[in-house]
Amino acid sequence: MLIRIKKPSDVKSSEITPKEAVLNRRAFMAAAAASGAALLPAIAGPALAGTRLENVKKTPWGEAEMPATLDAITSHNNFYEFGTGKTDPKANAHTLKPKPWAIEIAGHAEKTGSFDLDQIIRPHQLEERIYRMRCVEAWSMVIPWVGVPLGDVLKRFNPTSKAKFVAFETLVDVKQMPAQGSPGLPWPYVEGLRIDEAMHPLTLLAVGIHGEVMPNQNGAPVRLVVPWKYGFKGIKSIVKISFVEKQPLATWNIQAPGEYGFYSNVNPNRSHPRWSQAKERRITGEGGIKALFAPRAETLIHNGYAEEVASLYQGMDLMKYY
Ligand code: MTE
Repeated sequence: MLIRIKKPSDVKSSEITPKEAVLNRRAFMAAAAASGAALLPAIAGPALAGTRLENVKKTPWGEAEMPATLDAITSHNNFYEFGTGKTDPKANAHTLKPKPWAIEIAGHAEKTGSFDLDQIIRPHQLEERIYRMRCVEAWSMVIPWVGVPLGDVLKRFNPTSKAKFVAFETLVDVKQMPAQGSPGLPWPYVEGLRIDEAMHPLTLLAVGIHGEVMPNQNGAPVRLVVPWKYGFKGIKSIVKISFVEKQPLATWNIQAPGEYGFYSNVNPNRSHPRWSQAKERRITGEGGIKALFAPRAETLIHNGYAEEVASLYQGMDLMKYY
């Protein structure tokens, strides 16, 4: 498998503007257009899902893969803030208001503060990356994400040498996320990566799927995508990113530490205590009822991305650090 890895571009920290600063929108748009940067739809209001994203660069990532249909990707979800059933997010996530959206950048970095999502994403070229995604429940989907490499974004905040990990948090707002009012997971949903995992060129901050603005049920307006890890690492609707010194908490690790570790790298050799991880059933959205009986395929170590990421874990016992 030949995959080209883009050298992360150096983006000047001066491009970060505190939210409080007055933004000359016209000049900003002109500068963004001139630099070929991302153009998120500049439409006010929450109903953005379905809008085409402009100026998305196609990449060779996953070009040989057959992506699942938009209907499959948006109808079978895990997003406990909207219920625990697979169809609950599609039915209930209309209450989420993804615009305007602020993200707080905190911790060990020279630049911290609250930034509008536009300021975080817009200086970067939006890319389409078609990734194989593996859920810990032993199903998988190929998803054409639109996003920007997380590492390129993080570098603009100048993390210091104390930044050993990156911690992420989802919104807490029971009005927008009604199931946060019922017993279930502790809120906010939290996740974390080691800094080298966060900086790896495969790791994305995703803002869309199939060329369209991220549907609410998939984690609008912005979520994490780490294709060599189980799907639950892909925290949705992120409102806070912190550079931290110690390994941060991760929701499923808090819930069931014997079942879900911090690393959560896809590993067919390490069974979940209650089921095997050796095989997976691919959900494509094609074939209707026949898809339910699709033959199961072998799961690959690091979800097939070992060539790119195995070096991150050299010398670590992957049976222990699961
Ligand atoms: N993020 C939040 N905030 N809340 C969640 O319940 N579920 C996780 C992850 N991110 C979850 C979340 C799990 S278990 C999975 S498998 C993926 O999101 C599912 O992403 P998808 O619905 O886009 O396939």
